[in-house]
Amino acid sequence: MSLRINDTAPDFTADTTQGAIRFHEWIGDGYAVLFSHPKDFTPVCTTELGTMAGLEDEFAKRNAKIVGISVDPVESHERWKDDIRTVTGHAVNYPLIGDTDLKVAKLYDMLPAEAGDSCEGRTPADNATVRSVFVIGPDKKIKLILTYPMSTGRNFQEILRAIDSIQLTAKHQVATPADWKQGDDVIITAAVSNEDAVRRFGSYETILPYIRKTKQPAA
Ligand code: BEZ
Repeated sequence: MSLRINDTAPDFTADTTQGAIRFHEWIGDGYAVLFSHPKDFTPVCTTELGTMAGLEDEFAKRNAKIVGISVDPVESHERWKDDIRTVTGHAVNYPLIGDTDLKVAKLYDMLPAEAGDSCEGRTPADNATVRSVFVIGPDKKIKLILTYPMSTGRNFQEILRAIDSIQLTAKHQVATPADWKQGDDVIITAAVSNEDAVRRFGSYETILPYIRKTKQPAA
């Protein structure tokens, strides 16, 4: 099954480095970032998991929990954490799912149904499609999906920026332009009439009839 934005994120139970979790229950009332990597003890993945460890506080500020996943066993994740700390200087304190039967990878459409049901003998290349990010909201709906090639490490600052936009636009009838960041002007959505725009946002600028900009509303 292919997943799309606004679909309900599939729920699952899984073993993690912090014990068994039921995903929706673990998410609770906040946001969650589920991010996968092709294989433990590989170079790009080592830098990615360390970068996420360094950003955990930034995600927490946004009420977003983070959880990593690969088809490697939990014991492998535990051994790998030392390397991640040595290389990046960051301790991994978020849970890592050991998806050894590929159940979650298949549920999230990272691997095809015919990928088998064991991590045994799988090479990093076999898991090439497993470098994905899913941002999930408190309503358990998928807000963002991203998949990168095996050879390209992800930019997790972009995930933080996207969460800022997702949370702002969930509250106000605005959208955020290209490269927007906190504090920049925002776009008033088409659903808001000009009269309503004045009432909601005070003042705004009409760049084109379909592009109306205003100051970022207060959270
Ligand atoms: C890496 O993270 O460096 C990597 C992952 C899968 C295949 C090859 C390299």
